[in-house]
Amino acid sequence: MRSVISILDLSAEEINQLIATAKDIIAHPENYWDKCAHKKLATLFYEPSTRTRLSFEAAMLELGGSVLGFSEASSSSASKGESVADTSKILSCYADIIAMRHPQEGAPYVASRNATIPVINAGDGSHNHPTQTLADMLTISRELGRLENLTIGLCGDLKYGRTVHSLIEAMSRCGNIRFVLIAPKELKIPSFIRYNVLEKYHIPYTEVESLEEAMPQLDVLYMTRIQRERFDDPWEYERLKDTYILDTKKMELAKERMCVLHPLPRVNEISVQVDADPRAAYFRQALNGKYMRMALILKLLEEAKANPIREEIDTTDLEYDRVCTNPKCISRTEQELPQLFRCTDKAADIHRCIYCEQRA
Ligand code: NCD
Repeated sequence: MRSVISILDLSAEEINQLIATAKDIIAHPENYWDKCAHKKLATLFYEPSTRTRLSFEAAMLELGGSVLGFSEASSSSASKGESVADTSKILSCYADIIAMRHPQEGAPYVASRNATIPVINAGDGSHNHPTQTLADMLTISRELGRLENLTIGLCGDLKYGRTVHSLIEAMSRCGNIRFVLIAPKELKIPSFIRYNVLEKYHIPYTEVESLEEAMPQLDVLYMTRIQRERFDDPWEYERLKDTYILDTKKMELAKERMCVLHPLPRVNEISVQVDADPRAAYFRQALNGKYMRMALILKLLEEAKANPIREEIDTTDLEYDRVCTNPKCISRTEQELPQLFRCTDKAADIHRCIYCEQRA
């Protein structure tokens, strides 16, 4: 039995298979109508969501299964102080698979270590969002016909935007990818992506502040919302919130064959007028999310049936004698959770928390 907490829990080959399954679902939906009959998906959402939660639910319903869960922490026993570990043990009694969103980084990982059913990370704090990446990749594949030989611009809040982190991890494994990171200096990508992915695998990338300057080179432009809820200082958000606005004038600078993606929700970073441009793919991307979540639920339930035992964690290079300093890490609040760090760079003596990946 396997959970998907990071996009790297799936191999590049497995992602290609999920994309193939999603395309087959699109072509022959009737073949999938009862694939998950009598199976239940639990959606445990401790943070707001429209697309992710409802597309998970629609995905399970279209597979003939049913759904249960909660859409805010205040309506669950979390409000009484129940731990993530206990909640996931309980849900393992009632459902066959869990999709969890949580404001604390590493919470779905803790759930996966305690549940006896597969857990899917539906977004944890500013850390990861693997199923959004699956939606993004199906969209790029359908819009441009390839996942290789691409210049991908990522624009906006690259620091707190979890969708950006998972997308960089996944696309870095595809052939001949170049990233253009478009962000103000306060919102640049975090070190776990810069050093563990881009530098480590020698992925070409440039960092710029001007969207106009980047525009003509891009095959994909991935716009993001400035993540207001993650800022410690509300004035910093006010100062940065209007940094990038994609409008029809900027679209004139783009290639004729390119696509604009956005995980949504949009605030004001894409002018509504851009929606009519055939290159604007973000509403199609939201639909693709449902198909990829169908493919993923199917895969994980099949695997759990074939092998109901939870995979053990790799304990090589684990260290126990450090304390995570990230205030948003699940290890700060979860009862009696052991502090665990992994050495990610022996030469530089760098250790990262296994829950949130922040440096010790
Ligand atoms: C994203 C998220 O929750 O991280 N939304 C989504 O899942 N489609 C992006 C965002 O909230 O800005």
